Amino acid sequence: MKKIIIGNWKLNLDHLEAIQLFQKLNYSLNNDVDKKIDIVVAPSFTSLRSIQTIIEADKLNLFLSSQNVSEFVEGAYTGEVSSEQLIKLKVSYCIVGHSERREHFKETDESINLKVHNLVNKKITPIICFGESIEQRNSGKYLDYIIKQVDSATKGLRKDKVDEIVFAYEPIWAIGTGETASLQDIIEVVSEVKKFIESKPFYNEEKIKFVYGGSVSPNNSEEILNSNIINGALVGGASLDVDQFVKIIESIEL
Ligand code: PGA
Repeated sequence: MKKIIIGNWKLNLDHLEAIQLFQKLNYSLNNDVDKKIDIVVAPSFTSLRSIQTIIEADKLNLFLSSQNVSEFVEGAYTGEVSSEQLIKLKVSYCIVGHSERREHFKETDESINLKVHNLVNKKITPIICFGESIEQRNSGKYLDYIIKQVDSATKGLRKDKVDEIVFAYEPIWAIGTGETASLQDIIEVVSEVKKFIESKPFYNEEKIKFVYGGSVSPNNSEEILNSNIINGALVGGASLDVDQFVKIIESIEL
């Protein structure tokens, strides 16, 4: 299965800075790497249009993700952005349920599920994030918690509606901390989640990817990304540095 590397730029860069970073990334990629690996950037909403224009004008094989979408479809919801508006901008992916949104914006499992439905209805691939806090890990109950997150995010999904889904295991204690989960920890969680969703009506082995996120850097990417069960990475901090991001991409053995 083709691996995927997603750069989550979070709340950084105005649209001019985003264009610069994106162009530098494009020039820094070695020939054809974009044909063998899906390379995705997730800028702020304000930069989506600028980057879409570059992708289209230069016919690039790079993909756009948004960092969020509304749980509503349209109407009187000031400040929201819909999946319909995103697909018009050729946004292929959208991050949902990131722990930062769950924590700072009080996103609930219910609203995450609505967002996932809105995305699949428009054929935008949801990147569904889940992961435990350090307290949950230490309590030993982290697998139950994770399965509950995945179960609620995917409730009601049907195979005929769903094209692709990316599941992103992001232990909260590893995000932006420099601490990474061990390969063993990642494999344990991903295997459990995989086993759980195999019985779900939307499951389609060829269309479901599992990525890891949490302090991914060139120092740890080789080990994580070349494991069979892990199909890629969701990269935060290191995606803002083109040299590091390209090193992460290049650590995949093709
Ligand atoms: P990080 O962020 O790579 O900076 O830890 C990952 C994420 O939040 O997606």
